[in-house]
Amino acid sequence: MGAGLRPSMSALTINIKDLKLLTRTKVRFGTEPKIAYYLYPELFIYNMPKARKEKFKQDREDFKTMHGVFDNFTNLTLFKLITEGHFRGLESPINIGKESNVFSALTNEEKRVIVKIYRLETCDFNIMYNYIKNDSRYGHLKRKKRNVIFAWVQREYRNLMEAREAQVNVPIPITFSNNVLVLEFVGRGDQIAPKLKDMVPKNKKQFFGKITENMGKLYKHGLVHADLSAFNILNFEETPVFIDMSQATTLNHPQAEEFLERDVRNICNFFNKHGLRVNEKSVLNKIKK
Ligand SMILES: Nc1ncnc2c1ncn2[C@@H]1O[C@H](COP(=O)(O)OP(=O)(O)O)[C@@H](O)[C@H]1O
Ligand SMILES: [Mg+2]
Repeated sequence: MGAGLRPSMSALTINIKDLKLLTRTKVRFGTEPKIAYYLYPELFIYNMPKARKEKFKQDREDFKTMHGVFDNFTNLTLFKLITEGHFRGLESPINIGKESNVFSALTNEEKRVIVKIYRLETCDFNIMYNYIKNDSRYGHLKRKKRNVIFAWVQREYRNLMEAREAQVNVPIPITFSNNVLVLEFVGRGDQIAPKLKDMVPKNKKQFFGKITENMGKLYKHGLVHADLSAFNILNFEETPVFIDMSQATTLNHPQAEEFLERDVRNICNFFNKHGLRVNEKSVLNKIKK
């Protein structure tokens, strides 16, 4: 477990402030009563039959394992997304990153989605702020922790929408709320698509061509990914899918060119290392053409 994952028991006790918050977010206990059980067990457990109480305790332990690691605010946000029907609970952790934790989750139709949760406590919002403040879309953002994190999540959602509009191969963004982003699960069944760095494509030349084509589409649409590498490209059945779009920025960002050159360098280095002979300059020209 990363440093950011501190179990918080407070999610399991009632406090008036949270009940008020619950009312404000207009969550309905009716749609997903189980979640309310786990967050506020004292409201429900007192008149349960014995057998149900035992089952409940086990379920609650499972829930605690998954949700106890979040702060109350994040739990309420997840709860809201659950009651809105985007998924019915987290399934398993996929990645613990610098700023966020990524989980898979199951929908009522037994489909999988990805839930990316930005940590409110342990993320370096100063770095985020420095990145986002020069994005013309976020020029007026206040340097306040929650503002910055929420804007960051919104930007990732927005970038994914823009990328899809430009027909760049990225996961479909489903929704976002506060510090939580929900997006399409790239994979088949419960098999998640590997990162490019872990699965070198069979036809490297073709795969590389598809990457530069996607980079070109994104650029022509007015965006640069700005964190593109073999870590943030999935190899989904021999097709590249760009992920982690939170840093993607508009071309009028003072460092947009620098970011683009760095993206190109990362990709070229990776493929050169794997025996393809590619040239940064000509790739850059092709993207900008
Ligand atoms: N839509 C997705 N489908 C499948 N796997 C994903 C998806 N989004 C993220 N992942 C997995 O989670 C990891 C972390 O996600 P990413 O968005 O790159 O966050 P971070 O900012 O922590 O790098 C990825 O490397 C990938 O393995
Ligand atoms: Mg990443």
